[in-house]
Amino acid sequence: MSITILALESSCDETSAAVIRDGVLITNVIATQTVHENYGGVVPELASRAHQQNVVPVVHQALSKANIRKSELSAIAFTQGPGLLGALLVGTSFAKALALSLKKPLIAVNHMQAHILAHFIEDPKPAFPFLCLTVSGGHTQLVLVEDYLKMEIIGQTRDDAVGEAFDKSAKLLGLTYPGGPLIDKYAREGNPLSFSFPPSEMPGFDYSFSGIKTAILYFLRDQTKRDANFIQDNLYDICASIQHSLINMLLDKLIKAAKHYKISNIAIAGGVSANSGLRAALQNLVPAYNWQVYFPKFEYCTDNAAMIAMAAHFKYINEEFCSLEVSPEPRMKF
Ligand code: KG4
Ligand code: ZN
Repeated sequence: MSITILALESSCDETSAAVIRDGVLITNVIATQTVHENYGGVVPELASRAHQQNVVPVVHQALSKANIRKSELSAIAFTQGPGLLGALLVGTSFAKALALSLKKPLIAVNHMQAHILAHFIEDPKPAFPFLCLTVSGGHTQLVLVEDYLKMEIIGQTRDDAVGEAFDKSAKLLGLTYPGGPLIDKYAREGNPLSFSFPPSEMPGFDYSFSGIKTAILYFLRDQTKRDANFIQDNLYDICASIQHSLINMLLDKLIKAAKHYKISNIAIAGGVSANSGLRAALQNLVPAYNWQVYFPKFEYCTDNAAMIAMAAHFKYINEEFCSLEVSPEPRMKF
């Protein structure tokens, strides 16, 4: 009997549905919400409303592209958290209703675990144990991954996520949301050593990005006071310098953790793992540390239901189902 799962993702501003059969991804449909662009960040109520509108067509598309009838499904999976409550409620309620009407088991997935398990959608797949730097708009975590569903957070940010630092810096530069990919694009044309922003020192493998964010704010304010065209004239160099500083902070703790745990299999995951500067900097460390590094395919870096489906596949094998009383957990831990 094959295991066929329909998975839903609705934790933030992407409504997505995917179908996976026996661990092989068949379809992954994503509707990205563009309504937030003009607000400089995700507006929770608008996100919930857009999920409400998108969820039925996205699920229909995923099933019809996969050429699968609902009766063939083995289980329904959904993102339980972490994420925005109203956004999570849409996916959770939809998945529950579908599971109830089809009399199929329900699988609740942790979004951050799923970002890591996106590495198992396609080859090359990392060998256990590996260290994963999970970097998104809401999280920055160093995770020791011992098995598909056995993972431990060994370090994390105490305040802002690195994706937030990218997006807020971009906002100060007048770029539209989400600004991370734009900083990445402009940074390619600039000199990363033009300006320097001091990293915050944190104990152990923890991070803090609020200090550097404030340093960038004051720097831009002071420079613009002196020269009103400062940002316009130096955009590429500013982006390259901000990106360089953020990447150095990320990699500094990753190197320390890899030494401490004596691990040479290294992966990155989450939206910021799409960053070309981070990928290049990590690749550059390979000869010095003898690492095996793993990068997810670009389409599986930012939010998608394929990774939720992958996580659900492993949970199905372990028979980790949940009841229809399950609720979303905006601050879900693992
Ligand atoms: O994982 P994700 O799609 O959503 C969350 O779970 O947060 O990550 C979104 C974050 C945003 O902060 C976005 O700016 C950032 O990932 N991001 C990038 C790049 N692509 C996406 N940041 C830097 N460079 C990129 N190329
Ligand atoms: Zn995410």
